[in-house]
Amino acid sequence: MGMTDVRVRVIERTDEADAVFALVLAAVDGGDLPAWTPGAHIDVAAGSAGVRQYSLCGDPAERDRWRIAVLHEPAGRGGSAHLFRTALPGTTLSVSVPRNNFELADAAEYTFVAGGIGITPILPMIAAAEQAGAHWTLHYGARTTAHMAFADALTERYPQVRLVPQNESGLLPVAEILAARPAATVYCCGPEPLLAAVEAEGARQGVTVRTERFVPRPVERTGTDEAFEVRLAQTGRTLRVAADRSIVDVLESAGISVITSCREGTCGSCETPVLDGEVEHRDSLLTAEERDSGATMMLCVSRARSGVLVLDL
Ligand code: FES
Repeated sequence: MGMTDVRVRVIERTDEADAVFALVLAAVDGGDLPAWTPGAHIDVAAGSAGVRQYSLCGDPAERDRWRIAVLHEPAGRGGSAHLFRTALPGTTLSVSVPRNNFELADAAEYTFVAGGIGITPILPMIAAAEQAGAHWTLHYGARTTAHMAFADALTERYPQVRLVPQNESGLLPVAEILAARPAATVYCCGPEPLLAAVEAEGARQGVTVRTERFVPRPVERTGTDEAFEVRLAQTGRTLRVAADRSIVDVLESAGISVITSCREGTCGSCETPVLDGEVEHRDSLLTAEERDSGATMMLCVSRARSGVLVLDL
């Protein structure tokens, strides 16, 4: 563990849409919280469900509070149901320091595409784009307008926000959205089918697309997993990773501690430099270029394609 190292108190809880509630969190001792930038998330301990990632969706300049929004999915994996029940005003939560796997790069033009609760990292990005004087548009889809958190505040302030409720207008027209502004950098967060569609369309149209996933990307398995070796460059140790174990498991059994949080390839806390060997990436956050470069890997889910990996550990 190690990443759930901030204690915060829920100081406000509000309903923001059908099945979406927002929490305002403050340091238990009342002081400033760690700084963050648009696109950052925190890991939140959610009881027996483990840790879940939530994007910070408030104002980074407000150092005494963080805001997150939670989609209550009673049939989900249990994290949101736990928070729905327990994260009441006055209670405390264990969370991590903010980590950003979804940095807003400088650009003259942005296209933001949000699906449902995926609006959360986009909110501070919009504020930053406004502040920088960049041109931007937002395409925000959800089942109905009642499922769109923060939609009223967005449409009241910004004419370039387009709401696409599925029950009236169907799915977000991804190809058309990307084609409309080919020079824009695209930031997309939402459910897997939307992310996959935006990535595929971005590749087809040659548009730069950045996405963020909080549930693991489906992994295409080609054949069964095989055993391999990891060599630890800093100590010269070599460890064998059996077919049914992860690198993190093996390191921990050998008494080598690794910082982990989600253990499913979504949070980035176990990212480790790779000095040699070919990686089979199974995480949900490295970009295609980062995967191809093979410079780092997530030790909780990724494996070796070659027989040996040399890690900077
Ligand atoms: S522990 Fe979260 S990516 Fe590995």
